[in-house]
This record gives sequence, structure tokens and C-alpha cells, in this order.
Amino acid sequence: MKILVTGGLGYIGSHVTVMLLQKGVEVISVDNLDNSRIEVLNGIKAITNKEPFFDNLDLRNQNQIQDLFKKHTDIDGVIHFAAYKSVGESVDKPLAYYQNNVGGLLNLLKPLCELNIPLIFSSSCTVYGQALKLPIDENSSVQPASSPYGFTKQIGEQLIKDCCKANSDFKSILLRYFNPVGAHPSAKIGEYPQGIPQNLVPFLTQTVIGKRSLLKVFGKDYDTPDGTCIRDYIHVMDLAQAHIDSIYYLISSNQKFSCETFNVGTGRGFSVLEVIKAFEKTTGESVPYKFTNPRVGDTISAYADVKKIEKQIGWKAKYSLEEALQSAWNWEKEIDKNS
Ligand SMILES: NC(=O)c1ccc[n+]([C@@H]2O[C@H](COP(=O)([O-])OP(=O)(O)OC[C@H]3O[C@@H](n4cnc5c(N)ncnc54)[C@H](O)[C@@H]3O)[C@@H](O)[C@H]2O)c1
Repeated sequence: MKILVTGGLGYIGSHVTVMLLQKGVEVISVDNLDNSRIEVLNGIKAITNKEPFFDNLDLRNQNQIQDLFKKHTDIDGVIHFAAYKSVGESVDKPLAYYQNNVGGLLNLLKPLCELNIPLIFSSSCTVYGQALKLPIDENSSVQPASSPYGFTKQIGEQLIKDCCKANSDFKSILLRYFNPVGAHPSAKIGEYPQGIPQNLVPFLTQTVIGKRSLLKVFGKDYDTPDGTCIRDYIHVMDLAQAHIDSIYYLISSNQKFSCETFNVGTGRGFSVLEVIKAFEKTTGESVPYKFTNPRVGDTISAYADVKKIEKQIGWKAKYSLEEALQSAWNWEKEIDKNS
């Protein structure tokens, strides 16, 4: 089997690449290194003793995509990660987000629809906004997007659905991730945030290692048991496995559906304070933090109903929050050692 992974040197793409290589799948990895480093290839090689075919390519460039599909005529499936992912940055640079996340996807969809190559798309639980009912299942309504980033995911989903409708031989799975955390157990690959991390766990580990003075906890009076926001934290290894199971499901079985949406989470929500306590307990490190004002537009509580992916694809999260946090901490120490 030959799989194209876009954004293959990024956080989630690199973990998926490792798992595909370990299964004996041939991987074509493309990335323009906008939010990743070429050294990630060394980490992948160190874990797997194998290398993906790598192309430094920009999905906004239609000619480069055409050349890629001319060079590789036997691609069985595509897992599409390449996109910008910062909610805050997207508010300041909306055009860059639409150009990259929507423009890149449009360019990619052209050959995929023409050649009927199945696609797994990285979507996000941000499409649900603050859902009225918890846990959130796939039938929960999609809320008006609160950021250009969130809107690019909604547009991406719709574009793919429209292509599937127009061509019944083109099939796709939309995976709505909840909150990916953690790193590979080897600590050879992991999340490498540029600038100030937007997400809780990398901010927390950077604070504990001493790169930041205090972890900011946004809001303490929300309507939750301890007053802080609740999220569904999924270990990146579990998330990577969900992609492997999904691409096999999409390619090998003769599915009747053309486009299906699945939540990928653990089904459990943890508050910010619970994450801090779990980190302290599992690593023995203390986390200096302070409460600050709530962030505008933050969802109060979000965790997934994962029955659909469990039943239909047979995937279930295996790692605990503690394992995810320990792996994130091991990775932070590894970054620190090499910096
Ligand atoms: N990490 C999360 O919290 C999260 C949650 C929900 C959804 N997602 C989605 O999952 C996907 C992967 O996320 P990630 O955390 O691995 O992000 P990441 O930034 O680590 O990886 C994305 C990779 O794509 C590359 N890239 C970006 N634009 C490109 C382009 N035009 N051409 C080629 N390469 C390009 C970047 O250099 C980067 O290596 C993204 O689509 C993101 O929106 C992520």
C-alpha cells in the first residue's frame, strides 16, 4: 500500500508516518516546513529504521501537486494534515488561513476526485462550538465558526462532501479531533510549537521546564465542577492509530458510504485543574500557575461521544491522560537537552 501524507513532518503527521512505516506501508510525505523541521525525518528514521519518500512541497502550488501525482501514479490513499492551526493567529491573518487551509485543500481535491483516491481529512471539534448536549456526537449541529481557522475546517468538510456527492467513486472520512496531546513513547518525535504555545499541555511543559514563568489558567468561574474549562485530551498515539484504522477501513473494505464523519476522542472530559494535578502526580514536578481572565470565545466544556468510530471502524482510545502527560514531559525534556 502507498499512502500520501500531507503535512507529514508536523506533529500528528509524523506520528502517523511512523505507524504506517511500521506496518510496511510505503509513505510519501510532503511538507513545506512552515511549521515543522527537516530533523523530524531523523526522528522517524530512528524509531522505524525506515524513511518515507519526502518532498518539500507547498500545497498552494498546483503545479507541484500535479507533478507529484505524475511521479507517483499508484497512490492508494491520502491523509491530509497540511494546514495552519492557530485559532488566535487566524483572527489576525484570515487571508493566509483561507489561502492555505482552503486553497491547499482545493488543489489537492482536483487530482483526488479525478483519480478517485480516498482521502482522510483532519477536522476538529471546533466545528461544534459550545454544544448544547454533552458528550458531543456527530449529529450535534455545526455552530457558526468563532474564528477563521474554525471556518476553514467547516469549509473543508463541505468541499469534500460536495466532491463525494458529485462523484460517487470518490470516498472520504472526516475525522473531528478533540484535543491531541502527548508524544511518541520514544521521545524522538512530538509537538514542536513555534512561539508561544496556544494549547494547555505544551504551555504547561514549557512552564515546568523553565521556558515560561507561569501557566495561565483562563477563567476560574465557569459552570464546571471546579470552575475551569473541560476538554477531551487524546494521546497522539491513539489519534495516529485512528488514522491507520480509518485509512484501512476506507481502502480495503467495499464501503457503501461516500463521506463519513467520526469524532476522535476518549469520551472523557478533564478540567484544566485536573490536568495540572494529573501532571504533578504522574511526573512528580510542580506546576506554577495563576488564574487570568477567561479568553473570549473559549468553549466551556467539550468531550466526545465516540460510539460511532468504535462501532463502525473498531477504534478505541487506549492511553490514559497520565500516560499522555508523561510522554509530553519526556518530549519536553528531550527538546531541552538538544537546545
Ligand atoms: N493539533 C491539534 O490540536 C489539532 C486539533 C484539531 C485538528 N487539527 C488539524 O490537524 C492537522 C495537523 O495538525 P498538527 O497539530 O499536526 O499541525 P502541524 O502544524 O504540526 O502540522 C501541519 C504540517 O503541515 C505543514 N504545512 C502547512 N501548510 C502547508 C502547505 N501549504 N504545504 C505543505 N505543507 C504545509 C506544516 O509545515 C506542518 O508540518 C491540521 O490540519 C490541524 O488543523 C489539529
